[in-house]
Amino acid sequence: MSCDEKVDCGRRRLLVTTAAIGGVGGAVVATPFIKSMLPSERAKAAGAPVEVDISKLQPGEMLTVEWRGKPVWIINRTDEQLASLKKTDGDVADPKSEKQMQPKYCQNETRSIKPNLFVAVGICTHLGCSPTEKFKTGAESGLGADWPGGFICPCHGSTFDIAGRVYKSKPAPDNLEIPPHVYLSETTILIGEDKKGA
Ligand code: FES
Repeated sequence: MSCDEKVDCGRRRLLVTTAAIGGVGGAVVATPFIKSMLPSERAKAAGAPVEVDISKLQPGEMLTVEWRGKPVWIINRTDEQLASLKKTDGDVADPKSEKQMQPKYCQNETRSIKPNLFVAVGICTHLGCSPTEKFKTGAESGLGADWPGGFICPCHGSTFDIAGRVYKSKPAPDNLEIPPHVYLSETTILIGEDKKGA
């Protein structure tokens, strides 16, 4: 056998061996790869979008769902609640929501896709407590005769209007965050994604 033949043989052997390893390796790695394409229950719980049926959500009611371990509120605002946003414009720190606390499609007067339906992450932007709803207005709310309805954080007293906009001079630096979301139908919202799936 000549040197070239040896090299050729060696190469061939090497190639065959490599292919065999590749073949076996391919088979071995294929399973975990395919598995990795399927989100585990934990991964789903951690990050997958959440589909929510809002067909029974009446005006003035609020629904809380969990997305990425966070509470997400869906509120069916009444016309009165919507009208209160005009009054709170002058009292909130970022009335036009210019800071990036919402997707572009919610950077509007109501901070929502549909005016009545408000979706927000229910976590205070100060130190992460969960604000509580204070939908009752006026003295009945315990927050003063001119309270227009909204939310209060129990930890350090930040208050938010019914569009999750923080009032001026409060510890929370930003409006409540609005997650990506999309309406799959009149009665279904997908939280965590803003493109309708195929
Ligand atoms: S955590 Fe909400 S005001 Fe401090």
